[in-house]
Amino acid sequence: MQTALYHPEHGYYSSGRGRTGTRGDFLTPVTTGPVLGQLLASQADEWHAALGRPASVCLGEQGADRGWLACDILDSISSQYPALRSALHLHIIEPSPRLVEQQESTLALHRKTFPISWHRQSITFSPGDVPCFFYSCELVDSFPVRLARHLQGEWHELWVDVREGKLHWSAQPAPADLMDEVKRWDIPSVDGFTAEIRPDAGPWIRSLGQIIRRGIILTLDYGMPAAELYHLSRSAGTLVSLRSHQRTPDPLQDPGEQDLTSHVNYTDLILEGKKEGLETLGLADFSSAWTRLAQPLLTGSDPLPQKWSRNFQHLTHPGFFGKTHQVLVQGKNLPRDFQPSLLKPVTFGSDLEDSVPLPRA
Ligand SMILES: C[S@@+](CC[C@H](N)C(=O)[O-])C[C@H]1O[C@@H](n2cnc3c(N)ncnc32)[C@H](O)[C@@H]1O
Repeated sequence: MQTALYHPEHGYYSSGRGRTGTRGDFLTPVTTGPVLGQLLASQADEWHAALGRPASVCLGEQGADRGWLACDILDSISSQYPALRSALHLHIIEPSPRLVEQQESTLALHRKTFPISWHRQSITFSPGDVPCFFYSCELVDSFPVRLARHLQGEWHELWVDVREGKLHWSAQPAPADLMDEVKRWDIPSVDGFTAEIRPDAGPWIRSLGQIIRRGIILTLDYGMPAAELYHLSRSAGTLVSLRSHQRTPDPLQDPGEQDLTSHVNYTDLILEGKKEGLETLGLADFSSAWTRLAQPLLTGSDPLPQKWSRNFQHLTHPGFFGKTHQVLVQGKNLPRDFQPSLLKPVTFGSDLEDSVPLPRA
């Protein structure tokens, strides 16, 4: 998975060919339009106000792909949040030189207004005492996974072999470090049960916890707490391969030409983040999170443009991203009483608490 997605030349992502969006292989919340960026900008501004509007803050993104989400956020901050605009420095963590080029081009206009820095690795990003608003969208699901499968009474690890020029699965007895994960997550020892383990997720959130002394981290992705992820109802695991908006039958087919992804274990991020002082403020599905943040707009007297409403529905509708995708909010050294709006209960009316938005008419 590491090689298929990140080989410097042929890797699905590092090759720099457009992968997301209607003309690519799959949609992400970012590719449905600018509303996600607008809502994140409003959340960043609320956070900046809660800190007492410090003169310098940093906005951090990892997994920025072509830079569209950062661009949407900066568009919105430029036009609506002047105090945040003058305090902000954007940092993008991007190992792929081809993607850096594409991000530079997307953000070319904003580079005249905002300081923007690129970092090849997270360890070179060090905001020091400057408060940081860090976000990612569909980043962690693209970190490589190991596959554990219970076969004939024993746990195995699925390796990838090359035989006669073709890739094949090869089940080997599970090594001790994989067995530790099976036990840690209480994965059911049921014949055929398959589970993904993501070795880089814990080190990723721990390194952010070390780097960020004061700030908030928003992790947007599809996934669930460990007890739901490793549940008997999901015994085939969640690894999928995608191409042209379809699941393909074989993750080993055409390496570098199809996306590989599997669901995020949010419990892992919560527990590992805690080791570096990251407190979990909450985990909310997209339907609740963006409805809460957009409440002033949804209940305001100004009619919302149709295009905006359509984009909002893509983000929040249970049949689209509303229930599959979650936002994990973790923080460090935040004001005691600070609760981000995306986690606050909505108050459309007593009987509509936490419901999805109703049509305005
Ligand atoms: C599924 S795409 C999501 C892109 C974009 N955030 C969106 O939501 O449309 C995953 C992105 O994460 C990037 N990525 C994976 N591992 C990364 C890492 N360690 N550092 C930075 N980016 C990474 C990939 O290159 C790819 O651009």
